[in-house]
Amino acid sequence: MMNKPITKQLMKLTINGIEKEVVMRNADTLLHLLREGLGLTGAKSGCNNGDCGACTVLIDGLPINACHILAIEASGKQITTIEGLSNTLIQNSFIEQWAIQCGYCTPGFILNSYALIQQHPDATDEMIDDWLDSNICRCTGYEEIKTAIKNLLETRKISG
Ligand code: FES
Ligand code: FES
Repeated sequence: MMNKPITKQLMKLTINGIEKEVVMRNADTLLHLLREGLGLTGAKSGCNNGDCGACTVLIDGLPINACHILAIEASGKQITTIEGLSNTLIQNSFIEQWAIQCGYCTPGFILNSYALIQQHPDATDEMIDDWLDSNICRCTGYEEIKTAIKNLLETRKISG
């Protein structure tokens, strides 16, 4: 008699600094696990095809589309979701600039912007454009989003 294939596993994930043990199917995407398994619904499902950036999370500080990675691949890595960026300078900068309309794309943009500022504190306008290229806003509030990023970069330069 053939053994049944193992389709579920118990894995450890570190999400927003907290280690969690979760049972996941081998085929679960990280987006599915976050939203359906852990109730972290800040990462949004848009295209589910790696094109829109609505599902952006950070893995070890770098943005990635959670719809395009298996949850199992994130095991042992540091995952940051929008829930982990509550009350941060970047969130407040988006609010101050009204860089939000319907809000569907906003978690992805905030995470991507946060990573940009961490990785490139001297980012030029061209670099900002390049980083934002991975995220689509259907409400087209791109100028306000760029201003939110630039203001924060400037503030950080002034305050050292
Ligand atoms: S939902 Fe993941 S990139 Fe669009
Ligand atoms: S604010 Fe509506 S899609 Fe970006």
